Amino acid sequence: MKARIASSAPEAVEADAVAAVVFEAQDGSVDRSALDGLSGGLIGELRSAGELKGKLFETTLIHRPVGAAAKRLLAIGGGKRSEFNAARLRRCAAAAARTLKVKGVKRMAWLLDSAPSADPAAKAVAEGVTLGLYDADVYKSEDKAEGGIEELILIGAGSPEVIDRGIAIGAAQNFARELAQEPGNLLPPLKLAEKAAAMAQAAGLECEIIDEAKLRKLGMGALLGVSQGSDAPPALIVIRYVPETPSASDVHLGLVGKGVTFDTGGVSIKPAANMDEMKYDMAGAAAVLGAMQAIAALKPPVRVTAVVPAAENMVSARAQRPGDVVTTLSGKTVEVLNTDAEGRMLLADALTYAQTLGCNRLVDAATLTGAIVVALGYERTGLFSNDDEWGKSVLAASEAAGERFWPMPLDTEYKPYLKSEIADLANIGGRWGGAITAAVFLGEFANATPWAHLDIAGTAWLDKPAPDAPKGPSGVGVRSMVELAFSLVR
Ligand code: BES
Ligand code: ZN
Ligand code: ZN
Repeated sequence: MKARIASSAPEAVEADAVAAVVFEAQDGSVDRSALDGLSGGLIGELRSAGELKGKLFETTLIHRPVGAAAKRLLAIGGGKRSEFNAARLRRCAAAAARTLKVKGVKRMAWLLDSAPSADPAAKAVAEGVTLGLYDADVYKSEDKAEGGIEELILIGAGSPEVIDRGIAIGAAQNFARELAQEPGNLLPPLKLAEKAAAMAQAAGLECEIIDEAKLRKLGMGALLGVSQGSDAPPALIVIRYVPETPSASDVHLGLVGKGVTFDTGGVSIKPAANMDEMKYDMAGAAAVLGAMQAIAALKPPVRVTAVVPAAENMVSARAQRPGDVVTTLSGKTVEVLNTDAEGRMLLADALTYAQTLGCNRLVDAATLTGAIVVALGYERTGLFSNDDEWGKSVLAASEAAGERFWPMPLDTEYKPYLKSEIADLANIGGRWGGAITAAVFLGEFANATPWAHLDIAGTAWLDKPAPDAPKGPSGVGVRSMVELAFSLVR
């Protein structure tokens, strides 16, 4: 999708549709929005008749608006003006794009309101419209969502750079969603590695795929243990971004993403119901790869390295047994009391490896535990950190990016939950506090490096369609990680 800023008056902008946000009227009746003018007063009439209320995501489509050159006018509800912000604007833009694309709209104009201020608003609309173009129906032979918006015309303000950034970030999030919706049979670890390498090459990044033999040589016993039951070989994907003009700061950000291309649970097998969903157990990997794509395009002046362990957790005669002991890359031994707690095993080795590459700030994203869904439901990502300042930076980045994270505890009192009789650690921590003990386990491999863990098990997948997104992968994490990379030099 290309985008431009319209220099002409809104009345004169030619497009298949022009969209704008309408709010819940404070006084209930009169509408003084620019949209009312463009519609020749129709929007005001609809409001007076009670047919348009301005509720969040409410859509009103008018054909041949008399005051506009565009063929259609879409009023998208923004809810209460006092509660409106860039995050809502992004979602409204996505919802509008989803409404218009199925009506064959190719050229979409957007009339910007004054709030939030020009550049953030333009970026939010560009991101939102791009996100609205995502569809998950790639393997349907018929009834596919057709078409897509080819041109976005922003009426009002905003700089072209900001709009390009918005599109790049939206596209990176869509790339993450595309990876996460791929079924397990079509995206085994090496295929994920191939797609990562293709992305890296197109983005101008260096990509190294560490294969099984090399992983063995390196000593990644935890990753190999998870993978040993599968016929599909594992891989460790390493992608390096080195800024052309580095800032004075010595920050080297490491992004680590859980890449379990399918999680059966292994011998500690999962129940059959909804097991298909475990194809998205690589959503953390997808988010990291998406973030790298955007980082390559937007070029923050800090070093960023992605470390993505990819494996399939299967059941077979070669599969890891409950009770097995493995030696991790760090040298610590782990007793695998439950083979379904596999994500932390591969992340343990990847976190260690990221430190050997010189990463001095770490963020991991992982669909790690069902327990985080018990704690936070589907609305917020659990954020754990071993460093207050770093945790705050990550939280601030998520707020700026319009992704909702929530701080979770990591007290040392949880550590004994992971005691093993025969090894340094057990890979599970008992009945309660499962999201926390999983994070505590990872913390054992982050050591003193400032590290933050994002448990996205509840937020990486939408169980039902929303106005702004179809059922399926959300691409959560991409925007916050990109924002974080930029925030480190500000
Ligand atoms: N991939 C799952 C976690 C998960 C659950 C992701 C639901 C998305 C939705 C993870 O590997 C897992 O199975 N975790 C176990 C850990 C337990 C065995 C300690 C869990 O959460 O039940
Ligand atoms: Zn599992
Ligand atoms: Zn898993």
